[in-house]
Amino acid sequence: MAKISVIMPAAGSGSRFGAKQNKIFQRIKGQPLFLRTLELFTSREDVVQVQLVVSPADIPEITERFGGNLGFMGVSLCEGGAQRSDSVRNALARVRDDADLVCVHDAVRPCVSPLWIDAVFAQAHATGAAILAYPIHGTLKKVGDTTIQQTVSREHLWEAQTPQVFRTALLRRAYEHPTAATDDAALVEALGEPVRVVLGDPRNIKVTTPGDLALAEAVIDSIPKPKKKNDHHPFAEAQW
Ligand code: C5P
Repeated sequence: MAKISVIMPAAGSGSRFGAKQNKIFQRIKGQPLFLRTLELFTSREDVVQVQLVVSPADIPEITERFGGNLGFMGVSLCEGGAQRSDSVRNALARVRDDADLVCVHDAVRPCVSPLWIDAVFAQAHATGAAILAYPIHGTLKKVGDTTIQQTVSREHLWEAQTPQVFRTALLRRAYEHPTAATDDAALVEALGEPVRVVLGDPRNIKVTTPGDLALAEAVIDSIPKPKKKNDHHPFAEAQW
């Protein structure tokens, strides 16, 4: 079994959410969003390390209110930076040397199914780099000043999600240079290394606005769960 180190960025300012508090503290089904997302990984046998990357401003509150939960779950805290990539880089420096793969998963995606995590872990183990993604089904418009400038072809377009999973040495190499990329795959692509997409699901939403939180609450009970311990994601068999 591959040993997986999980980095969970949670250090965003949440300016688009509009609340006073960081959106990671918002409750979903009565539980703080970030704890729900963390549990999806801390309960796995293949995960050997979990780092929650938080803004320095949030550390006192997290330690005081949730230090006990995090200690029990084996989660360590890491200080985030100005950009998401700074946050991931800080945690990458503390990834255990015996980790075969590093999984980066945004704290604000609480609706990912254990079956989809299985699938992207298996693909990364087989090929070195894999992300969950979903094909674009809508019609895309480039808009300036509320007027459409262009209709963009959706052919071959997928939306990147997380988890994004890479061999440890590969992700370390990708982060050697300064960057402001909004996901980790972009840095691996920049090295010229192939990154596989694993078919995800539109319910794996990123909670960015209060409306997304309502959506996450609405879909969370419909997320597929493993029937038994060794249940497989259908794509795991279809693709490798
Ligand atoms: O804002 P964005 O959509 O890029 O946020 C995605 C994830 O990255 C969120 O979980 C957010 O908390 C995290 N993030 C971070 N450090 C930053 C910016 C975002 O850990 N400086």
